[in-house]
Amino acid sequence: MLYIGIDLGTSATKLLLMDEEGRIKNIVSKEYPLEFPNPGWSQQNPEDWLKAVKEGVPELLEGFDASAVAGIGAGGQMHGLVVLDKEDNVIRPAILWNDGRTNKEVDYLNEEIGRETLSKYTANIAFAGFTAPKLLWMKKNEPELFAKIDKIMLPKDYINYMLTGVHCTDVSDASGMLLFDVENKCWSKEMLDICGIREEQMAKIYESFEKVGTVLPEMAETLGIPATTVVAAGAGDNAAAAVGTGTVGEGACNISLGTSGTIFISSENFGVDKKNGLHSFAHADGAFHLMGCMLSAASCNKWLMDEILKTDDYAGEQVPITDDKLGKNHVFFLPYLMGERSPINDTNARGTFTGITMDSTRADLVQAVLEGVAFAIRDSLEVARSQGIDIKRSNICGGGAKSPLWKKIFANVLNVSLDIVESEQGPGMGGAMLAMVADGTYPSVKEVCGKLVHIVDTVEPDPELVALYEKRYQEYSKIYPALKPVFAEIV
Ligand code: XUL
Repeated sequence: MLYIGIDLGTSATKLLLMDEEGRIKNIVSKEYPLEFPNPGWSQQNPEDWLKAVKEGVPELLEGFDASAVAGIGAGGQMHGLVVLDKEDNVIRPAILWNDGRTNKEVDYLNEEIGRETLSKYTANIAFAGFTAPKLLWMKKNEPELFAKIDKIMLPKDYINYMLTGVHCTDVSDASGMLLFDVENKCWSKEMLDICGIREEQMAKIYESFEKVGTVLPEMAETLGIPATTVVAAGAGDNAAAAVGTGTVGEGACNISLGTSGTIFISSENFGVDKKNGLHSFAHADGAFHLMGCMLSAASCNKWLMDEILKTDDYAGEQVPITDDKLGKNHVFFLPYLMGERSPINDTNARGTFTGITMDSTRADLVQAVLEGVAFAIRDSLEVARSQGIDIKRSNICGGGAKSPLWKKIFANVLNVSLDIVESEQGPGMGGAMLAMVADGTYPSVKEVCGKLVHIVDTVEPDPELVALYEKRYQEYSKIYPALKPVFAEIV
């Protein structure tokens, strides 16, 4: 049997074909544009995602027995607001997870409704990228469009709706809307009222590993797969990546280095970070997790390579950064190219290089970017540590995890052993694995993880480097607080 995993990302949709033993047979990637109509705004056209799936699946299946496809599961970029009218037309471009236009709405929610109240209703406070503030923004700034909304959904739920005709979502992705009561796994009536939304506009909620339906006949024909193909509810990309890296059960941790950077801490029980620096969300395995999310991670390196250094030789740029240079760089980089979410929650924050001198080299700047991203993930890890959560090891996945140097920097900045799983295709693999549970091939997410995920290597921290990086981290930690008032002035 074959399974298709969809990783609905921000720069591309990656499709993965896998058998029930976990062997990856093929991968196809379809890129699409990202619009930045104003500084800090970020939008995408949901029809581009659908086109990527419609064109990508037949390509993925070329040379394989398409009649053996038994299931599809998606892991999707979280929080994006997708709105459809009564005829199922997309009303406006989706407002994405890294969009920072909702300052005022976030302030209204956090200050006037109040953090405590929000946390009571949803287990979370408001962040600019979350879905509820975007609905408030639309209501105020685009009232005619807001009035047309018939269905509200998240990015991968749009794909699932087009595949099955079922307006569905899953608990992990719903958690990031600030409309969902995470502890009780249902829509929060209070939050729907605050946003002027009716429950009929919201999707039916499933556990991530549940079957929502089968593929509509017309869609099955377009994709070239059987109409009996089971579609799983799927998950937010971070929960899907956690499944794809086997990050399930109490205290298991995953770091994802994609466009965003996340640290994902799995838990058997519901819990809230008292300072609300970390998100408290449902996990795709039926339990819960805490998560810190930085808005620009591997994308900082991509920006430096593509836009500034104008090179596609990412690995070549890292060659001069030899072991003796680690922990000794006096150039620092704040990775806030899209503002920042966890833990500082500041849409005004901006990227900076600090500490450049006449002898600073191109490689020092590259190194500063890799280190800055690791320091920013450490900020979230420190929040978890301050809650008594002791993380000694973590999985790592995402495009950035292809770099051995970056993994070494992470292991030493965090002082954590990093387990490397066979494939860094976290969300796609997780999506396919959720489909294997949805069609009954495996009885649970834990079981499919136990069978299909293999650790192939571990990067251990080196005590000497850990000490050097500790000093650097303490220095780095002084830069943002000093610049925070400046960022607020220069917006
Ligand atoms: C998580 C988040 C990002 C997106 C990226 O809260 O916003 O990781 O899911 O796709």
